[in-house]
Amino acid sequence: MALRTLDSLGPLAGKTVGVRLDLNVPLDGETITDDGRIRAALPTLAALAEKGAKMVVWSHLGRPDGAPDPRYSVQPVAARLTELWPHNVVFVDHTSGAAITNATGILEPGDVLLAENLRFDPRETSKDPTERAAFAAELAASVDAFVSDGFGVVHRAQASVVELAEAVPSASGPLIAAELDVLTRLTADPARPYTVVLGGSKVSDKLGVIDALLPVVDRLVIGGGMVFTVLAAQGHQVGSSLLEADQIDTVKGYLADAKERGVELILPTDIVMAESFAADAPSVVLPIDSLETGPAGASALGLDIGPESAEAFRRVIAASATVFWNGPMGVFEFDAFSHGTRAVAQGLTEMRGLSVVGGGDSAAAVRRLGFADEQFGHISTGGGASLEFLEGKALPGLEAVGWP
Ligand code: 3PG
Repeated sequence: MALRTLDSLGPLAGKTVGVRLDLNVPLDGETITDDGRIRAALPTLAALAEKGAKMVVWSHLGRPDGAPDPRYSVQPVAARLTELWPHNVVFVDHTSGAAITNATGILEPGDVLLAENLRFDPRETSKDPTERAAFAAELAASVDAFVSDGFGVVHRAQASVVELAEAVPSASGPLIAAELDVLTRLTADPARPYTVVLGGSKVSDKLGVIDALLPVVDRLVIGGGMVFTVLAAQGHQVGSSLLEADQIDTVKGYLADAKERGVELILPTDIVMAESFAADAPSVVLPIDSLETGPAGASALGLDIGPESAEAFRRVIAASATVFWNGPMGVFEFDAFSHGTRAVAQGLTEMRGLSVVGGGDSAAAVRRLGFADEQFGHISTGGGASLEFLEGKALPGLEAVGWP
């Protein structure tokens, strides 16, 4: 099998095409704080408009409880799409059924109907494939063909990701193709030195990718909340920083494995220890072997890597030929604790070669810190999806459109 692309759907002029996108953008109330996923979807819509199709776009947003919840409405997405898309955008507050089918009647080629959050229907995320198939059949009834291009959600076995692709003629879109093009370059013979930078809060979320990458990478750089479990595994006291005590033994195993394989493990040498979790919390920079020696003692918590570490990380990254980065180095949402994340992003912009920012928080971080998308080789729209791809896992949403 091979990935099915738009051309496999034949002529689409005048047809109504369902499009699954991942428009799960971060919101502050009703304000979108990073519209990267919406902008990344525009080429998909443009390719279909070019073919003369009308589009019914479906996405999820957040994790509502299988019932309508205004906090998770995709209405803010519709408003942003209206600004970005040159044709009409119509929002319908239903996911499926006659409300959608009737509204498609007013669409002209190039127009977009954005349906309400798919996860307002419990069958979208149901564990029961029969329920998912029933929901997919309802979605399919409004369209002539289906394009799956929500890369950020291809690791989920959900109705609009898997069963819908089986219910009507379906193909992947240009976003999935672009993501796969870059991510396969990271797995097949990457230019060296190859550095992977991992951060974010939980080491347990990253063990799978560490396991898969240790045989492949030259350097593994670790920061963010997850580093405290690594530092604890090395015998350091970490105060009240994030710690997954039940993972310490597992992490010790990975540290030994990294050493055996000759992977250079690069950890922070200093940490910004704050008195509390707050944007204006008093803080001190301390070396990793004395993190509990500040004024707050053992109740201090590490909210960023220190300046010495930030500079070391930036240099290592800038001197690499391939870099994949997932997860912030600290609480980048607070200016005072954003310096480590900024230094890592800076390193990626300085390197020559392929720089890839894994989606989710890291993508939001680089934009929040004022970097432009063009300064990076690729900013993935998939956080969990890109990690699972690098782990070598089978991704149900890709299999549904013919991959591999
Ligand atoms: C993401 O943000 O990683 C995707 O949109 C998937 O969302 P989920 O983790 O809620 O399935």
